[in-house]
Amino acid sequence: MKRILVTGATGQIGSELTMVLRKRYGNDNVVAAGHRRKPSDELLNSGPFEIIDTTKRDTIEEVVKRYNIDTIYHLAAILSAVAEAKPLLAWNVNMGGLLNVLEVAREHKCAVFVPSSIGAFGPNTPKDNTPQDTIQRPNTMYGVTKVSGELLCDYYYKRFGVDVRGVRFPGLISYVTLPGGGTTDYAVEIYYEALKKRKYTCYLKPDTYMDMMYMPDAIKAAIDLMEADPKRLIHRNAFNVTAMSFAPKDVANEIKKYIPDFVIDYDIDPVRQAIADSWPNHMDDSAARKEWGWKPNYDLASMTKDMLEKLSDKLGIKI
Ligand code: SER
Repeated sequence: MKRILVTGATGQIGSELTMVLRKRYGNDNVVAAGHRRKPSDELLNSGPFEIIDTTKRDTIEEVVKRYNIDTIYHLAAILSAVAEAKPLLAWNVNMGGLLNVLEVAREHKCAVFVPSSIGAFGPNTPKDNTPQDTIQRPNTMYGVTKVSGELLCDYYYKRFGVDVRGVRFPGLISYVTLPGGGTTDYAVEIYYEALKKRKYTCYLKPDTYMDMMYMPDAIKAAIDLMEADPKRLIHRNAFNVTAMSFAPKDVANEIKKYIPDFVIDYDIDPVRQAIADSWPNHMDDSAARKEWGWKPNYDLASMTKDMLEKLSDKLGIKI
């Protein structure tokens, strides 16, 4: 029986992944750990919750020992826009936290899931059909921590045999928990504002293309990779995964099919625009498809339909 720890369990991915893992492996076998954000009642009432500051190794180790943990989904991290504002914090949390988790995993023989990101690419990476193995010279602190993290994970597997696996997530869209300071956050905000105000002011230019994914597919990717036959994995860490590529004007047009009076306008944030411009338009995720059967279920049309339905219930606003 698996005994799982989720760090960053109060965050955008963690809050939903924890609930899916609890359904799959049993509520008491999945320990949710948070630090900065307040946990939801659902998270608190459905299974164990612990405070872990991943920059303090003993807070991780104590929980791993007490609950006999054998698998860690390490999601606690600082996103790209916050990382540009607070580069030292991003380095400490993203690198220090990861190193602590890998060390605890090495000592206590845990498997580890670590998300990398489209942010691990940079301005001289090929933008279209970005290959699995290619140039990675990011020019953001977030990107620096993501590339270093990918390398550190490969090192812990090769040098110490730690079963660490990961994907490069694109922008993730969900109606449950808001993201915390990323460059792709517009693709979540736009749905909330479309329902609340029929209007959204976007901080990116209308034709800024990036990879995106609906949260149920992201959760499926994480769990499927951790359950994949290790013999088939050539890459192990940092698989490109994507479900769709779109720009702000595309998602606005899709929303207009349901809310015809919705309008989008633009007020460009140069920091986030520069970050987005340095990331791929569309990744090639064929290695993930081949090595562990990755296949997303949602595209822009089916995601938009579901997002608007679920959010209209959540916010109590009719479409
Ligand atoms: N969604 C993340 C961000 O924008 C990218 O991994 O920072």
